[in-house]
Amino acid sequence: MNANIAVIGMGVMGSCLALNMANHNFKVSVYNYTPDLTDKFIKNHPHKNITAYYDIQSLINSVARPRKFFIMVTAGKAVDSVIDSLLPHLDPDDIIMDGGNSFYKDTQRRYDYVTSKGFKYFGIGVSGGEEGALNGPALMPGGNAESYKEIQPVMEAIAAKADDGKPCCTYIGEDGAGHYVKMVHNGIEYADMQLIAEAYLLLKNVGNLSNEQISQIFHEWNQGELSSFLISITADILKETDDMAEGYLVDKILDSAGQKGTGRWTSIAALEQGVNTSIMTSACNARNISSFYAKRQQFADSDLKQTLPVEIDENFVEDVRRSLYTAKIAAYTQGFELYKSASEIHNWHLDLGSVASIFRAGCIIKAKFLNNITNAYQKNPNLENLLEDDFFFHKVQENQQSLRKTIAKAVSFGVPIPAFSNAMAYIDGLCTKTVGANLIQAQRDYFGAHTYKRIDREGTFHHQWQKHY
Ligand code: 6PG
Repeated sequence: MNANIAVIGMGVMGSCLALNMANHNFKVSVYNYTPDLTDKFIKNHPHKNITAYYDIQSLINSVARPRKFFIMVTAGKAVDSVIDSLLPHLDPDDIIMDGGNSFYKDTQRRYDYVTSKGFKYFGIGVSGGEEGALNGPALMPGGNAESYKEIQPVMEAIAAKADDGKPCCTYIGEDGAGHYVKMVHNGIEYADMQLIAEAYLLLKNVGNLSNEQISQIFHEWNQGELSSFLISITADILKETDDMAEGYLVDKILDSAGQKGTGRWTSIAALEQGVNTSIMTSACNARNISSFYAKRQQFADSDLKQTLPVEIDENFVEDVRRSLYTAKIAAYTQGFELYKSASEIHNWHLDLGSVASIFRAGCIIKAKFLNNITNAYQKNPNLENLLEDDFFFHKVQENQQSLRKTIAKAVSFGVPIPAFSNAMAYIDGLCTKTVGANLIQAQRDYFGAHTYKRIDREGTFHHQWQKHY
């Protein structure tokens, strides 16, 4: 068979992507390191466009030139092993793609390695989970620009389609650009999820509302400017009753969040680049503190926490909605600032409008307001900060008093809302002329002669600071 593409790795994501390709009339060869997964897949999903192979040489021979290999194995060493098993058998211009959640620096290294041997390499961000992989994910391919045309037809065919019919897939940039964009997508995903969790906690603990009521509120919010995949699944989740015991399932789930690491990578990259992604970082830290479950129970049972009385008015729910929207804008602003900085550092020439537009469908952070982000970058591709765009400027202006009121209530009541608070601090930091850095510079100069600049004359200064006490 002259297959159009080979998929290597028959786990859930690889299987779904292979089926998605086959359903779009591409001839697909499939392979897994261990034959059991291949057998299971072929048995459960026989398809006229899919052929299974059990040794790497036959797999390689089955694909039309330039050959295309889509690796979908666990990120890490397994990707390197698959690459090493392919390389000795390839012809010039054959293309290796990695669709896992690989760290972008690994992708840069693999790109250099594979291209140095005369072959082509793509790191492809894939978002949308199992459902997306089968029916249309958002795809973020980064790699050899000149070979993108070879993979474009299959990538665009299998990608989700936005409301305007455009595929949620665009060439992102060289080397690790695709995986970088996916990494920050996940950082934004963490922030979005944390903000929603904080809104839920406020409605539940401060507003004293039931799961049924909160589900209805999220359902209503999903009809408006907050409309998004994550809000819609939250409405569903809160309504779900337990099938093992009385009550709602959400109340039976252990209050301790997991993380595989991509959100953390985003914060590490941001710190390395000197960009503020405090909302995403606070979301990581919130997952960290959630995992100290036993310690939290112990402190919660003590009377360490001393709160203040809180009055709830009839605008409370609407204030929480506005807070969520404002904080969400701040989180995406930070994410897109990070993209802009990475684009400059790595010379990726990221088209931020296109990045926003491919998040409009298929992925976990798909949301109505990504259209507004796309518009903002279409109006001004060099926008330095999303809040400079009229739409977002006015939205933050209109809604931020609700965020201030909500934070004040949460702090008084003792509800932890790190993502809301960091969103406010970010906005205030941006909108404040003096943030105390003059004093920090003075301290640095005092104890370490680190020097400082002055506002009234050019140059760099050091002062002989006196002890006054
Ligand atoms: C996606 C998701 C997906 C997954 C991440 C996050 O875009 O489809 O981001 O990649 O959910 O692995 O997982 P953690 O929350 O475990 O870090």
